[in-house]
Amino acid sequence: MTIKIAVVNESLNNETRVALVPEIAQKLASNNVTFIIEKNAGESSGFLDSAYPENACKFVSSSEDALKVADVLFKVNPPTSDEIEKMKRGSMAISYMNPFQNDALIKQMASSGVDAFSVELIPRISRAQSMDALSSQASIAGYKAVILAANHANKFFPMLTTAAGTVRPAQTLIVGAGVAGLQAIATAKRLGSRVIAFDVRRSTKEQIESLGAQFLDTGITAEGEGGYARELTAEELETQKQVLSKTMGQSDVVITTAAVPGKPAPKLIDRQTVESMAPGSVIVDLGAISGGNCELTNPDDVVDHGGVIILGPTNLPSTMPKHASELYSRNLLNFLSPAIAEEGLNIDWDDEVFKGANITRNGEVTFNQGAN
Ligand code: NAI
Repeated sequence: MTIKIAVVNESLNNETRVALVPEIAQKLASNNVTFIIEKNAGESSGFLDSAYPENACKFVSSSEDALKVADVLFKVNPPTSDEIEKMKRGSMAISYMNPFQNDALIKQMASSGVDAFSVELIPRISRAQSMDALSSQASIAGYKAVILAANHANKFFPMLTTAAGTVRPAQTLIVGAGVAGLQAIATAKRLGSRVIAFDVRRSTKEQIESLGAQFLDTGITAEGEGGYARELTAEELETQKQVLSKTMGQSDVVITTAAVPGKPAPKLIDRQTVESMAPGSVIVDLGAISGGNCELTNPDDVVDHGGVIILGPTNLPSTMPKHASELYSRNLLNFLSPAIAEEGLNIDWDDEVFKGANITRNGEVTFNQGAN
């Protein structure tokens, strides 16, 4: 039985990615899969309709025409309420679902009989690395954060020896050394900056040092569940802020990536600390999407606080939509492939990957906020 996968235009304002690129359509089409794609869905990421394999893709002029026949919906952002209404009972949706903040939408998917999978909840196990959208997209964000900072900085990143004298390298501080933070360290090093970084997970010390950066020891360790950090106590947060504040005052660029799943971003940088930085310094706060690591961040805005520039971009992957879409689309391919069988979709509900990512099934909400 042929499986129909719908791909629609993303409706978020600052979204330019697409959930399916031509190369992946070609790969999946070799199985018993066809695609119903809303016209121009890939255009903003650089993929024209004409680039998709003709034999496997049908283009339709409204999202409704795609959704009403689809067995599976591929999206980047969570489906809208309107989109869910148009989907068939028993169909499946895979995308970012923002599960910790999306109660009403999750209930609507359950009551509409849509089986939903949240890419944020795919377990961080070795076997699922190729499906890990959080990693593929965070890596882009970490890279682009440094490029943005370099663009706003009033200094060179590298040390330069010129006829007019020697320029000292900029100092970059990276806060949080998960996927985005490690990519930011590597990028800042490639640009020639001196890099200092820290995280509350001890295992990051070796990773930071292996990239040639200096580990800043704040004396706080906070390993949590599933390889993530736990939330700090108020006292720990205060200690951390104090150590951080000193190093920030000496840094030209600060990139913050600290996050705890399902919780607001830890507030690590207060107004006083920002004011200790030299005018012309730059902070790029990737925590902006969940409230900000810096108390002066204004999401998607450029704040000039006494000459210190604070950026809070919430969707950097969308600024590099070609590679972001290619990687994301490959993540979806790797996630769905094991469920594609000759007789149609066949999900192994005992598989921890499907089970972990699933948030609604057979009319019920299966997402248990406390367990994630
Ligand atoms: P994330 O986006 O949830 O958080 C970013 C970083 O912020 C984390 O490294 C976290 O420890 C750090 N953080 C939290 N609170 C902090 C604080 N108060 N101060 C400083 N740093 C703070 O994390 P991400 O990037 O999604 O990765 C989290 C973990 O998952 C890592 O251990 C990573 O190695 C692991 N992982 C495992 C994979 C696998 O085995 N398949 C794939 C990708 C990541």
